[in-house]
Amino acid sequence: MKRLTIVLFGALALAGCRGGKSEEPPVHLFGDMDWQPKYQWGEASPLFPDGRAMRPVVDGTVAQGYLAEDDAYERGKDEKGEFVARAPVEVDEKLMRRGQERFNIYCAPCHDQSGSGRGMVIQRGFPPPVDLSSDRVRAMPDGQVFDTITNGVRNMPSYRKQIPVADRWAIVTWVKVLGLSQHATINDVPADKRGAIEPEAAQ
Ligand code: HEC
Repeated sequence: MKRLTIVLFGALALAGCRGGKSEEPPVHLFGDMDWQPKYQWGEASPLFPDGRAMRPVVDGTVAQGYLAEDDAYERGKDEKGEFVARAPVEVDEKLMRRGQERFNIYCAPCHDQSGSGRGMVIQRGFPPPVDLSSDRVRAMPDGQVFDTITNGVRNMPSYRKQIPVADRWAIVTWVKVLGLSQHATINDVPADKRGAIEPEAAQ
């Protein structure tokens, strides 16, 4: 009997919480927390000559965690302002796969997935890009490919806004992979994998 009463009361208490609406103002147990004398984002204030409560940031202020002082990583350049030869990141298969995925999203529409430059946008009349496996692009320092993605070059637009720095480096490694892949010989294939390649394909 005792147990039944507990269950009954419990059920009633729960039922009481079900979406009941009230026109009454809510009960504020701690009013001084709900109504603080403070300024909200973008409010006016007579305290300052410019009439704004929000203060402009001091010149040169950088938000925590946004100090992009590593030139090699953030800009692809060394302290002399020259392009770094190698990506300043650890290159492993995971990074290259990420680069492949991002390349196929952001670059392939123009450069196509092999990098030869016959992407759909080009077929519709955009000025054709260079072949990414050409000697010129293959000889480019990694930093210059990074800079091309960041700032664009001549007819190629900048992808600074779309692609975060880490992904730009991933794409750089994939551009290098594409360059290598078009110039690879059977000797680049590990000896134990050569048997898996068609004789015609392996020149
Ligand atoms: C809207 C089309 C388009 C997209 C998208 C595009 N590119 Fe390009 N890219 C071009 C064109 C066009 C050129 C040739 C620029 C010129 O010489 O006028 C070019 C040139 C290049 C070059 C050679 C730069 C040089 O100095 O000659 C590289 C490297 C390159 N692109 C990499 C990329 C990468 C990596 C991506 C993806 C993040 C990308 N591009 C996305 C159109 C594009």
